[in-house]
Amino acid sequence: ESATLGLFGLGTMGSALSLNILEKGFSLHVTNLETEVVGEFVKEAEDAGLAENLHGADDLAKMVAAMAPPRAIILMIPSGAPVDETIEKLLPHLAKGDTIIDAGNADFHVTRRRTAEVEAQGFTYIGMGVSGGEDGARHGPAMMVGGSPAAWSGIRDVIEGIAAKFEGSPCADHFGPDGAGHFVKTVHNGIEYADMQLIAETYGLMRNGQGQSPSEVGEVFERWNKGVLESYLVEITAKVLQASDTETGGPAVDVIVDAAGQKGTGRWTAIEAVRLGQSANVIEAAVAARAWSSEGEARAAGSAIFDAPRGDLELDEADLEAALLVGRIVSYAQGFRILDAASAEYDWSIDYARVAEVWRAGCIIRSSLLGDIAAAFRGDLPEGQLIFSETFAKLISEGLPALRRVVGAAVAGGHAVPALASALGFLDTMRTKRGTADVIQAQRDFFGHHGFVRIDGRRDQHGPWWD
Ligand code: 6PG
Repeated sequence: ESATLGLFGLGTMGSALSLNILEKGFSLHVTNLETEVVGEFVKEAEDAGLAENLHGADDLAKMVAAMAPPRAIILMIPSGAPVDETIEKLLPHLAKGDTIIDAGNADFHVTRRRTAEVEAQGFTYIGMGVSGGEDGARHGPAMMVGGSPAAWSGIRDVIEGIAAKFEGSPCADHFGPDGAGHFVKTVHNGIEYADMQLIAETYGLMRNGQGQSPSEVGEVFERWNKGVLESYLVEITAKVLQASDTETGGPAVDVIVDAAGQKGTGRWTAIEAVRLGQSANVIEAAVAARAWSSEGEARAAGSAIFDAPRGDLELDEADLEAALLVGRIVSYAQGFRILDAASAEYDWSIDYARVAEVWRAGCIIRSSLLGDIAAAFRGDLPEGQLIFSETFAKLISEGLPALRRVVGAAVAGGHAVPALASALGFLDTMRTKRGTADVIQAQRDFFGHHGFVRIDGRRDQHGPWWD
């Protein structure tokens, strides 16, 4: 049975999503914390010719009362305390079988907690990741749903109806219970951070290492977007770099302070990776780079103490392209490794091929690689590692020498490339059969009698330093 749909929170994302819902022919009840916004939104919908199935209400209680059960109420509000407060306000008005949908960027641990609390009272709860910014919300976002199958079936029509389409197939799916959807979105954002950082580092090498202007680099990205790097983020970077500031007439990027903001989702991916005993080091490097970027004064001091990066790099454009591609592959692969670890830990049974497919349109990390990633997950994946699949092992083998040349030149010239270097460090580790952790184990045994496994399989062995 399809639920009656309501939406609370008519900010940028909430209004855009509401117009999308109405445009696709679904009925919608809306309300907002500040009541006057409701009237403004109804007017906007009327002007757009989309108000026929729209019902504006003054507040949450009135909106719920006007909706026939079973209801599904989407919350499009800032994550954190506002969500808890709204749930508390909403609960007394709900009937058994009603669903609350948190469509913000929530921490999946919190979504798990909220799901348990709301469902203990006889209602259902959905944590839904929505990607694609305002434009995505208005014309088709990618959506990653977590919650009970029953709750999903009540909203599936509308979610698939408003989602972005890739060759006709909706970029939305249900990935498992409770926090699964929000975690898939969190990993999406971790990959988003990594990809943005890899792109920025590649720009930096051309700009600061080779003296190319932003618009020249923008043209390079524009060309790359027609090839293996085809993706939303490369596309918008090409546009961003070719834009001029309206005040100075110079490159738009040159008037922007080089300190990156972050609301937390990329960081959650890194935290969860480490918590699960893994490391998504390209994503971690991107989180680190954002943190370091905000230490502008310290960097200014450092630039006066140490030598400046050299501006005499001579890198092949094809090498830079290949290096960026390999970095991107590793960041996706690390994202999927964390999904896998979390899916095992929380019993989610996430379908990774579907995740890749849902990310093919509407979301920020959409790229032409995702079709190949989905195919790789449906095929033979040695050790469960995306980088070992036939397609990606080949792409990595071909691109690895270029990544090595790019990172080598960057390192020699003093240019910071933490994400590209992390990708190389990861790949070099994963192609080394016998690593150097024998020495770590020997050290642990030496100072703490921790014991080690001998190469013949005997466990709890100790070194001659204890004889
Ligand atoms: C998306 C984005 C979106 C938002 C992030 C940005 O998929 O549409 O990820 O959710 O832009 O909040 O995150 P930061 O503010 O942490 O960069």
